[in-house]
Amino acid sequence: MSAPFPAPIDSSTRYCAVFGHPIKHSASPAMQNAGIAALGLNWRYLACEVHPDHLREAIAGAKRMGFVGVNLTVPHKLLAIEMVDALDTSARTWGAVNTIQFEADAPGNVATRGFNTDADAITRSLQEDLSITLRGARVLLLGAGGAGRTAALKLAAHGVGELHLVNRTESKAAAVAAEIQQRHPGLKVIVGYPKTEVDLVLNATSLGLRLEDRLPFDDKKFSLRQARAAYDMIYRPAETPFLKAAKAASCLTANGLGMLLYQGSKALEIWSGQTAPIAVMRAALEKNVYGH
Ligand code: ATR
Repeated sequence: MSAPFPAPIDSSTRYCAVFGHPIKHSASPAMQNAGIAALGLNWRYLACEVHPDHLREAIAGAKRMGFVGVNLTVPHKLLAIEMVDALDTSARTWGAVNTIQFEADAPGNVATRGFNTDADAITRSLQEDLSITLRGARVLLLGAGGAGRTAALKLAAHGVGELHLVNRTESKAAAVAAEIQQRHPGLKVIVGYPKTEVDLVLNATSLGLRLEDRLPFDDKKFSLRQARAAYDMIYRPAETPFLKAAKAASCLTANGLGMLLYQGSKALEIWSGQTAPIAVMRAALEKNVYGH
C-alpha cells in the first residue's frame, strides 16, 4: 500500500520529531511521514540529533515553535520524566517517556504531557509476531537498561510465569528484579540464566547494532536450543547475529520492527486523535528497513 503524496510545506505546516543521540539510523521519519500523509495532515516528522545535555532546551524549542509532539529515543526516555508538565498514566506506570504531546491548555500557554507507548508495543509485537501466549510463559530477558526495564515490568504485568533477568551490570538486573517483586510478589523472578527450557528469549541490550558485536548472552551458560522463540528489539540490522543464531537453533524469530511500528502508531494516535493507518506505516517501515 503506498501513501498519498503529502501536501507541500507552507506556513501552516506543523512538525513533530524524534530526538535521540545518535539518531541517524532512525526509521521513524519514513514510517511517521507515511502515516501523516495517509491521514491527510499538513504535518512533517523530523529526526533531530539532540545531546542529552540539551534535551530540556530542545523540548522547550519544539514547544515554542508549535510542534505537535516529539518522540524520544536513546538516551532520553528517563531524563524526560522530569522535563514535562504532566505524566500520563502510561509514563507513570512504566517510568519512562517516549512520547510528548504539546497541548494548548489556555490562551498563549502550551502544556507538555509525557506518555509511554513502548510498553504496550513490546507485548503486542511479541504476541503478533511470535504468536506467544505471555500468561504463564517462561522468559529470559537480556538487558536491564531503559528498554530492558520497561520490557521486564510489562512482561510481569502480563502475568508471565517465570522471568529470568541477565545484564552485563548485574546490579541493574537485581534492581529491576526487586522492583518487579515489589509490584508482583507472586511472580518468580530470577537474576541469572535458566537451566531448563524457556518459551522466549528477548534481547533488550544494544549488542547486535554493530555487525562485529558478540552474542548478547554467555553461550557457556545458555543455549538457544533451550528457547522456543527469540525476539530482538533491534530492527536495524534486520537480522542480528542473535537472530541468525536463533534461526539456526530452530527458534521462531522476530526483530523489533513490530515494536517500533506499534509505539509509533500509538504516538500518532495521541497527537492526531485519529486511528493510525497501521498498514501504510508498516509498509513504509518495511521499505525503509528491508529495502522493499
Ligand atoms: P536502552 O534504552 O536501549 O535500553 P541503555 O539503557 O543504554 O539503552 O541500555 C543498554 C543495554 O545494553 C544495557 O542492558 C547494557 O548493559 P549495562 O547495563 O551493563 O550497561 C547493555 N549493553 C550495552 N553494551 C553492552 C556490551 N558491550 N555488553 C553487554 N551488554 C551491553
